[in-house]
Amino acid sequence: MKIGCPTEIKPQEFRVGMTPDAAREAVNHGHDVVIQEGAGLGSGFPDTDYIEAGATIIATAEEIFATADMIVKVKEPQAVERKMLRPDQLLFTYLHLAPDPEQTHDLLASGCTAIAYETVTDDRGGLPLLAPMSEVAGRLAPQVGAWTLQKANGGRGVLMGGVPGVAPAKVVVIGGGVVGTHAAKVAAGMGADVTVLDRSLNRLKYLDDVFGRDFKNQYATAGATLDLVRQADMVIGAVLIPGAAAPKLITRTQLSEMKPGAAIVDVAIDQGGCFETSKATTHGDPIYDVDGIMHYCVANMPGAVARTSTIALGNATMPFMLALANKGWRQACADDAHLLNGLNVHAGQLTYYAVGKALGIDVVSPSIAVKQ
Ligand SMILES: NC(=O)c1ccc[n+]([C@@H]2O[C@H](COP(=O)([O-])OP(=O)(O)OC[C@H]3O[C@@H](n4cnc5c(N)ncnc54)[C@H](O)[C@@H]3O)[C@@H](O)[C@H]2O)c1
Repeated sequence: MKIGCPTEIKPQEFRVGMTPDAAREAVNHGHDVVIQEGAGLGSGFPDTDYIEAGATIIATAEEIFATADMIVKVKEPQAVERKMLRPDQLLFTYLHLAPDPEQTHDLLASGCTAIAYETVTDDRGGLPLLAPMSEVAGRLAPQVGAWTLQKANGGRGVLMGGVPGVAPAKVVVIGGGVVGTHAAKVAAGMGADVTVLDRSLNRLKYLDDVFGRDFKNQYATAGATLDLVRQADMVIGAVLIPGAAAPKLITRTQLSEMKPGAAIVDVAIDQGGCFETSKATTHGDPIYDVDGIMHYCVANMPGAVARTSTIALGNATMPFMLALANKGWRQACADDAHLLNGLNVHAGQLTYYAVGKALGIDVVSPSIAVKQ
């Protein structure tokens, strides 16, 4: 198979769909890998790394889209890229079609087959190609929160770990899933006094068993949440209700009860945020002040650490990419129900029910599409 990896063109996107290591694995399996010139630079991978791995460098995205059997990317194809997709082509990338009718109609019109990272599943009910980015955002949250807490950035001027004789920062993490657990681990590692809130008793039991000595946990009633938020130096928002906007857990009025200069890191901002006062910001201008409380609400946090994010995503996508290349998408999806769950579009038909429901488009069962 000819596998093509173009340079990402969405603003502020520095990741790349294939690492040199992923390219080498594909080449070792007998595939041709074509990488657009400079595609890896944003993640610190020069063209020479790909050449050494056995890939070919091609100057333009047009040439990649014209010749590749499978396109491997990070972000959803932009309008100019969608125009280049072919009916016999396989697209493997993040798509997030439900809120994006324009992209959905373009993909259907292209006739391509598109497998979305975000809907591939695993045996434990997780989303293995979404989890690495939650791990990155979670571990980054206390790091950016600590910076936000610094006086010059408008924060309270509190050091995460304190010093001998001075208490550490109080950090509250709302939501103890992938983001929340990784955030709590790093905040505790920095020496902060950390409490994780969640509404799932099973999750709290897990956190207690595994991390009971590192950080505290509490059931997330509205009262307990407000109580802890009032005392906090930093609050990390990490809730998720699958398929829904994030619930607003702290109102603007309640914000005024927080300590002046406290920091909010609302990681759930990509689902609308869990504070009433959250609005999406960018890496260029990440924080803002509401009533003396500093908000960090960057919607694509993994972009700040593009190299780590690219490698983490590549580790997770590589086995699926190899299965698709080695067997062809039909056989790979027939053999693996979790990969089949990733099938969103095939030959002008939508094959993912939640997207069809969100956009009012008829859906063909993926298990039927795979046999067509
Ligand atoms: N900003 C970014 O760059 C970025 C990157 C990755 C993930 N995210 C977002 O981070 C959020 C968390 O993702 P995740 O992968 O950790 O999800 P997850 O499903 O692993 O965890 C979410 C947790 O929230 C808990 N929860 C739900 N409602 C709650 C409530 N009212 N109070 C307390 N806990 C509640 C759930 O029980 C679950 O344990 C999502 O919105 C995700 O989209 C953002």
